[in-house]
Amino acid sequence: MNGSLPAEYFDALYATAADPWGFATRWYEQRKYACALAALPCARYRRGYEPGCSIGVFTEQLAARCDRLLATDMAQAPLRAARDRLARLAHVEVQRRAVPQDWPSGSFDLLVISELGYYLDPADLQRLWAAATAALEPGGTLLAVHWRHPVADYPQTGDDVHAALAAAPGLGRLVEHVEEDFRLEVYLRTPPAVRSIAAQTGLR
Ligand SMILES: C[S@@+](CC[C@H](N)C(=O)[O-])C[C@H]1O[C@@H](n2cnc3c(N)ncnc32)[C@H](O)[C@@H]1O
Repeated sequence: MNGSLPAEYFDALYATAADPWGFATRWYEQRKYACALAALPCARYRRGYEPGCSIGVFTEQLAARCDRLLATDMAQAPLRAARDRLARLAHVEVQRRAVPQDWPSGSFDLLVISELGYYLDPADLQRLWAAATAALEPGGTLLAVHWRHPVADYPQTGDDVHAALAAAPGLGRLVEHVEEDFRLEVYLRTPPAVRSIAAQTGLR
């Protein structure tokens, strides 16, 4: 049986609150988004993808770094809010999709898996990392950031999600930032071998 949380779980959650995690209001989230954006190794990306975009708060900030950005979610209610929030950004496309089964076509130089992986069971999570790795351009950036504390309903913890990511082939870690509450990592699609930002930009 598939143990990943279904769309109905999130539909019910969004029926109780438009922004259940306080993405638009909590300092915790604002600070975490700032950490995540600061960790991205490239100033600009040509084509980014954020599955599980919710109401599009992080999407809006990612959009400032991307020429084109795809944002998807499997729940309907947050997508309406995301479309409203992002309507003036013509380079951002919002679609209803579930991962890993409905992964979009084409390649990306930025993938953002933020507060999403722990909703999947281990088999679906492994499929997610495989799909993400296959869709990343050589040297492309995969940003993963997750809450670390156990949540009763969730099939996995954030640390489980990042342990599975560390074991996924075809990726090398560039950034690791761990706090009591969240783990934030940036991986690059290998080959080529991972090089530091100073090395990439000719500083050393
Ligand atoms: C906690 S929010 C994360 C929002 C955003 N990525 C951020 O960090 O600000 C998780 C979102 O993922 C969506 N979601 C959960 N499982 C999903 C799946 N298998 N496929 C697509 N979206 C999913 C939920 O509907 C919810 O809106």
